[in-house]
Amino acid sequence: MKILVINGPNINLLGMREPEIYGRRTYSELLRVVAEAGEKFGAETEEFQSNHEGAIVDRIQAAYGKVDGIVINPAAYTHTSVAIRDALVAVGIPAVEVHISKVDDREAFRHVSFVCDVCLTTVSGRGIAGYADAIEYLCEKITKK
Ligand code: DQA
Repeated sequence: MKILVINGPNINLLGMREPEIYGRRTYSELLRVVAEAGEKFGAETEEFQSNHEGAIVDRIQAAYGKVDGIVINPAAYTHTSVAIRDALVAVGIPAVEVHISKVDDREAFRHVSFVCDVCLTTVSGRGIAGYADAIEYLCEKITKK
């Protein structure tokens, strides 16, 4: 089973970026959490991060027929991107949305997600542990299918 983990803009700055909101754990630690969750739940994981909307669309398209599940934190593009939503629908790969912070407790513009209803579920406010939760959820769904 293959799971692709996609992170959007500024997630590479974890640890340095607004630590009071996103915590002090770094992007490298996020990658370790993803790899460990993959091992634990029996999935091969691959990671992709980009600050560019089109690059994320390209990566989702390239996953068609090649991965079994997608974990995606579109970051700021969550609240703006019809293109990322359309790409997820186009490839039809089961996906889980992740947010490190609890977006519903933040500014009103963060309460809107363009991807939530095309994802199986959303994990929000669990810090980087949320990526492990999302991988576990996807592995269970995919193996039960
Ligand atoms: C985020 C929440 C978004 O609103 C924000 O733009 C991000 C990160 C999160 O993981 O909490 O960059 O997706």
